[in-house]
Amino acid sequence: MRRTPPPRTYRVKSFGCQMNVYDGERMAELLAQQGITPAPEGEEADLVVLNTCHIREKAAEKVYSDIGRLKREDGSAPLIAVAGCVAQAEGEEIMARAPAVSMVVGPQAYHRLPAMIADAVAGKRAVDTDMPAQTKFDALPARRKVGPSAFLTVQEGCDKFCTYCVVPYTRGAEVSRPFKDLLAEAERLIEAGAKEITLLGQNVNAWRDEGNCGLEKLIEALAAIPGLERIRYTTSHPNDMTQGLLDAHRDVPKLMPFLHLPVQSGNDRVLKAMNRSHTVASYLEILDRVRAARPDIALSGDFIVGFPGETDAEFEDTLRLVEQVGYAQCFSFKYSARPGTPAAEMDGQVPLTVMDERLARLQAALNASQLAFNRASLGKTCEVLVERRGKLQGQWLGKSPWLQSVHFTGEAAIGDLIRVELVEAGPNSLSGRLLQPAHG
Ligand code: 5AD
Ligand code: SF4
Repeated sequence: MRRTPPPRTYRVKSFGCQMNVYDGERMAELLAQQGITPAPEGEEADLVVLNTCHIREKAAEKVYSDIGRLKREDGSAPLIAVAGCVAQAEGEEIMARAPAVSMVVGPQAYHRLPAMIADAVAGKRAVDTDMPAQTKFDALPARRKVGPSAFLTVQEGCDKFCTYCVVPYTRGAEVSRPFKDLLAEAERLIEAGAKEITLLGQNVNAWRDEGNCGLEKLIEALAAIPGLERIRYTTSHPNDMTQGLLDAHRDVPKLMPFLHLPVQSGNDRVLKAMNRSHTVASYLEILDRVRAARPDIALSGDFIVGFPGETDAEFEDTLRLVEQVGYAQCFSFKYSARPGTPAAEMDGQVPLTVMDERLARLQAALNASQLAFNRASLGKTCEVLVERRGKLQGQWLGKSPWLQSVHFTGEAAIGDLIRVELVEAGPNSLSGRLLQPAHG
């Protein structure tokens, strides 16, 4: 590598889950603290951070085409850092395959970026995929300005080892951040403009403080902070869904009526092969209990079609489950064999054409379910947290308590909670009629 001038501008591109979005924001703050400024829209940045996702093959391959696109006509390129889960999983391989990359930094090493940039400027390429005991969170600067809806990572990593999943390898073992650090960061987020905080974790409901208190205690403590209006959490594993957390949906009004609880399949044999350690019945029983605690709760989930060995009849069980639950929204994916995971070695890999057909059928069922949920909301009044302006004059976009996108026109400002009546429902959004003028 040749020496390059120190970067003056940066761009962080995050792919994949919300945790990457959160990490991307934190990296941006870190770069800003170094005096590097965001590259203006449409202009090339001196430093590009590709914050990658490794969960499915397509997502992982994307990084190489993105690197290719960053090259200029004369063969030169900006300083490129590859961060995120592809960095963790393929550190040295990226260095070998993509000479334009000068830094590879794993999700637990982001605080080392400034030192790596200094090395890169001096012409040294570096890989840092260590998972140090001291968490990166302590070393990252606070965010100064955030939108009304902010993320707060409370837990990282996963000990569940579902047989298809790379997360336990890329993000490591489950680690919870301490209660007092989280309260302090939440307070800073609220000062910086947050009205809603979404607690993030690969297994967010496995969060435990040293005193062994569970996520509901953190939610209760956050709810007591003035200025915070809404609390959400994602993603949860059915096995960590404690009664205490379910009760919080009844007892804490600021906890929004929404639960993202991935199930992956509606068939017990497939669930066992996936090492999910729950059954369809135990999953449904949790949903019954959360509905008892909060009857209007909106449910969401993740599904995988075409897991190795999945038969047509087993896939039909998934469709039946969708029908039975009545989801408000869901994510669904074709199984993607990930190197190093047990499922990648299993017999009975399902042909792509079969997966395509199953995914289309599942998505049709999920879309119908989502539309039915939205239609059932018509006539309800609720508060919408305004997140941005809409395309039309005087139009605003925000989220209902059930995480639906709602648009309305009238007097409002970003960050307001506006009371509306839901008057029209489409598959992906609803339209609201303003009932109350903006306050504040
Ligand atoms: N193939 C397809 N989907 C996957 N997911 C995780 N690993 C894979 C894989 N190998 C999905 C699961 C998980 C979501 C984040 O991504 O549904 O809940
Ligand atoms: Fe992956 Fe399973 Fe852990 Fe979720 S619970 S991150 S799917 S291993």
